[in-house]
Amino acid sequence: MTVQRVLTGITTSGTPHLGNYAGAIRPAIAASRHPGVESFYFLADYHALIKTTDPLRVQRSTLEIAATWLAAGLDTDRVWFYRQSDIPEIPELAWLLTCIAGKGLLNRAHAYKAAVDKNTAEGLDPDAGVNMGLYMYPVLMAADILMFKAHSVPVGRDQIQHIEMARDIAGSFNHLYGEHFVLPEAAIDASVATLPGLDGRKMSKSYDNTIPLFAPTAELRKLVFSIVTDSRAPGEPKDADGSALFELYQAFSRPEEARAMRTAFEEGIAWGEAKQALFDKIEATVAPMRARYEELIADPAQIEKHLLEGAAKARAIATPFIAELRHAVGLRRLTTMAQPAKAAKAKATTQPQFKQYREGDGRFHFKLVAADGATLVVSEGFATPREAGALVTYLKQGGEFEIAGDGVFVSGERVAALVGGCAATGLRAALASFAE
Ligand code: TRP
Repeated sequence: MTVQRVLTGITTSGTPHLGNYAGAIRPAIAASRHPGVESFYFLADYHALIKTTDPLRVQRSTLEIAATWLAAGLDTDRVWFYRQSDIPEIPELAWLLTCIAGKGLLNRAHAYKAAVDKNTAEGLDPDAGVNMGLYMYPVLMAADILMFKAHSVPVGRDQIQHIEMARDIAGSFNHLYGEHFVLPEAAIDASVATLPGLDGRKMSKSYDNTIPLFAPTAELRKLVFSIVTDSRAPGEPKDADGSALFELYQAFSRPEEARAMRTAFEEGIAWGEAKQALFDKIEATVAPMRARYEELIADPAQIEKHLLEGAAKARAIATPFIAELRHAVGLRRLTTMAQPAKAAKAKATTQPQFKQYREGDGRFHFKLVAADGATLVVSEGFATPREAGALVTYLKQGGEFEIAGDGVFVSGERVAALVGGCAATGLRAALASFAE
């Protein structure tokens, strides 16, 4: 089975609401339980800095959103759950991508264009109040996605353009420097609800119409009863379609319960009664999670521990990958320099070399020695010289491998160990020189 990598981030600038839960967190947790899926869920706190300059808000929101994922049942052993700013490889990658992203491409980003249009309409300078974070937002987001070779990125419709930009930028990079990135796709799940807010428009912080996911029971009740309805009296038939109340009910009930509510609407249920039913449904879903959420919020150290473990797990992927990318663009150790000229004869003796040998235990090994004589890689032991030789040929001919920790893996199997801190870079440089 080929593993499908799914990745998504939530910006840490607000308090999670019912819309975030039903539209993003709940489906993401369900998806993470499928076999054959590797899920990467992270707190986009670098992105939060674009929206707010209030440090306490960023910190508080990070705590609340992390606690929400955990309270909602995310299994951190199964998924990669981390905080963006714990992965320094991400902003580093963002710079590599910045250097190849077209300015024209970023000029067309919806969020930036909306800001410019608004300024223009108000007779202001087009870029008034626009920071470079907003402008570069899609590049940072591309780095988030490309770093982990995500195939699929579940997002709201407003984010589709960003995923297309990530594809675009990845394609340019691959074209310039070789096939390093997977081209991601946006995943828009039609069965996942975009919830309406208190006023019937999409539930969103920017409309100030949200119902916080973990509002205390009394506040939740008050908010549910403040949902805008029309003036139809009890007994008058009501239309479920287009009713915010009904849509919310549907998002928190089973299909047969939603059907029964639809009938109740047709039969003229009173708004007050429908609101009470909705409140009961939401409370039934939220109450058990709320207890866990409150425990977690009261113990930030526990959450911090989860995040740091998640960061270590994510960096086990990001650190070797950024080394590969640095090498690809030419940020290289000078000791790996391809020696210019110095006559063909000299070159013959300063090429990196694979050397095969037999160990005392009777097994066959090879090592890769750099042009400067340093050993870069020592293989595992093989039963026959042919097996060792076949692997050498495979690597020389540009066969695929992966690096994780100090191991070199081919098709998931550890075949060799790296020697020394810069061996991964040296290995790639040596293999590149064989390819020439
Ligand atoms: N821009 C996303 C939002 O505001 C958050 C985000 C940041 C994200 N990086 C991402 C989503 C990478 C998916 C993938 O909703």
